[in-house]
Amino acid sequence: MRDINVSIGVDKRLWRQDIAGSRAHAAMLAAAGILSEGDAAEIRRGLDAIEAEYAAGGLVEDAALEDIHMHVEARLKEIIGEPAGRLHTARSRNDQVATDFRLWVRGAVDAIDAGLAAFQSALLTRAEQHAGDVMPGFTHLQTAQPVTLGHHLMAYFEMTRRDRGRFADARTRLNESPLGAAALAGTSFPIDRRASATALGFDRPMANSLDAVSDRDFALEFLSAAAMAGLHLSRLAEEIIIWASQPYGFVKLPDAFSTGSSIMPQKRNPDAAELVRAKAGLFLGAYQRLAIIMKGLPLAYSKDMQDDKAPVFEAFDTLALCLAAMTGMVETISFDTARMRAAAGTGFSTATDLADWLVREGGVPFREAHHITGRCVAAAEAAGCDLSALPLETLRGIDARIDDRVFGVLTVEASVASRTSFGGTSPANVRAAVAAARGAGQ
Ligand code: ARG
Repeated sequence: MRDINVSIGVDKRLWRQDIAGSRAHAAMLAAAGILSEGDAAEIRRGLDAIEAEYAAGGLVEDAALEDIHMHVEARLKEIIGEPAGRLHTARSRNDQVATDFRLWVRGAVDAIDAGLAAFQSALLTRAEQHAGDVMPGFTHLQTAQPVTLGHHLMAYFEMTRRDRGRFADARTRLNESPLGAAALAGTSFPIDRRASATALGFDRPMANSLDAVSDRDFALEFLSAAAMAGLHLSRLAEEIIIWASQPYGFVKLPDAFSTGSSIMPQKRNPDAAELVRAKAGLFLGAYQRLAIIMKGLPLAYSKDMQDDKAPVFEAFDTLALCLAAMTGMVETISFDTARMRAAAGTGFSTATDLADWLVREGGVPFREAHHITGRCVAAAEAAGCDLSALPLETLRGIDARIDDRVFGVLTVEASVASRTSFGGTSPANVRAAVAAARGAGQ
């Protein structure tokens, strides 16, 4: 029983929040006249001492004391004696743990937001540097149209902006205080839930005591936002892995973010990116793990809910690490822009520009222009050259409406420069997007 019941090994991470919650509760009890000023002062003194002990390395753990809440209270009793027993008036471990966990997740959201912001500023820096550098844009991982590297990086900036929005939304909903819900029904003591909520930085007390002790959707929202952010990181990680592969050769990772092989001396493996790619599974797993614990649980508290913390702690630690690793990689990766540009010109990537030119300059309907361009591509393929290297006579042989102005749109630079529609890949757009992001404080 002791071994299955104990949770101190995991929930000791809540020590700061547990002490903060007890301070707020004791102050509220004293202000409401439920606790004497003398007892409240003793409790404060004891909690200060425990805080110092934890900061200096922790408390002696005893499995029989189950969890962080019992450890803090037992230690308080050792330090201040009888008044320690009065702290738990009008409180239960059920509202206590819900309060501690909400406080912890709130801090985690703030830390992740800072990590996401740092990642964004790395993306902005690199996007600005490479606003005008051309790379192949892919669909189906087949060369599609030239894009700018800056635009590609800014796509991740946008994903990250939404990730931050998801965490911010979760934070708004979670910032209500369960404290004072007691075991499940509230209490007969004249407590002031608004006061303890305010003292802990919550916007208001939760409106329903049953909901307050049995809800864990705040933790699930955190995990869901983490899963989405992790999924986005895994896509960039995958692209870095592909780009670093020798047949691509688009990027080189610095030694600090790659590893060698024990047998192949030339190797430089993108291990950090591969691990970020792998961790996407951990976040999704953490979400499922908690969702399955909560599914079908009757109100109010059940001990199943003690298992809510491990997946959240693990997801937080891992996401913080992944963000640090990806930020470091984005900051230090070197892009082989010459090779990217050369690759951008292969695969007839400006075929769409030729078709668009026929529509614009020749008044040709797009469907027909698409067909004509297909014949030009076939001719280039047969001649073993790029579209821009086909002789004008060959092009005119396919369609007489083509003239030499067409060569102005067949280079990759002309192609990206022309994509000025809102949200398009042109260097000017990238610079404007970076400036707008900076102006908005990211
Ligand atoms: N360690 C418990 C948890 O994390 C604290 C709440 C215990 N409440 C109870 N009624 N046994 O969920």
